[in-house]
Amino acid sequence: MEYQLCPSILAADFWHLGEEIRQVEEAGVKWLHIDIMDGHFVPTISMGVPVVTSLRKASRLFFDVHIMAKEPAHLVEEFAGAGADMITVHTEACVDLDRTLRLIHEKGCKAGIAINPATPVSLLEDVLELADMVLVMTVNPGFGGQKYIPYCTEKIRRLRMMAKSMGKDLDIEVDGGINRETIHTVLEAGANVIVAGSAVFGGDTRENAKALKGIIEEYESNTGLRR
Ligand code: DX5
Ligand code: ZN
Repeated sequence: MEYQLCPSILAADFWHLGEEIRQVEEAGVKWLHIDIMDGHFVPTISMGVPVVTSLRKASRLFFDVHIMAKEPAHLVEEFAGAGADMITVHTEACVDLDRTLRLIHEKGCKAGIAINPATPVSLLEDVLELADMVLVMTVNPGFGGQKYIPYCTEKIRRLRMMAKSMGKDLDIEVDGGINRETIHTVLEAGANVIVAGSAVFGGDTRENAKALKGIIEEYESNTGLRR
């Protein structure tokens, strides 16, 4: 299991998007979180396939595409073709989650399942074997800059236990309200892929990314020592 800081470009300055991404790359970031919103599953819209296509030409980062859309199966092929490495869909948005996850794998991407704060972790018990990652939403999806919902910590912990008992090396991603304070809580609970939007792209992007990465690395080396 590898730890990753995964900056969410939703909070970036789109006029300077290329420069913003260059700065997180300079900070040593390997993953980029790209939020796709349809205005139905979540209240607003964000970006689409052309943005992913353009970024793919300019960056070798691992593209973590978080699709917040109803019945996203019809979008999978396009995003895979545009250069997504991981495609994550919401369990609340798929009538047939099993089929959608298999489709994502068929198109050559890693498959993630996202769950909203009110969706219990236990719902994933059976389908977990098909997932490379679970994204535990720590705010209600739709907007950046919201506050971390404290009861989600227990969900992360329970999910890590569930994966361990299956002997599965599952990536657990957290998304929403992660900053220099809340990051400690999610790491302790068992998350290893840490999405951060406003905490990275508000102010000095390179320095913010370095600081958050530093916290992750320190946690990693401390747990390494504890083992
Ligand atoms: C919200 C998105 C997030 C968002 C996080 O629905 O899925 O990825 O960009 O933003 P922050 O880190 O500002 O809460
Ligand atoms: Zn997201």
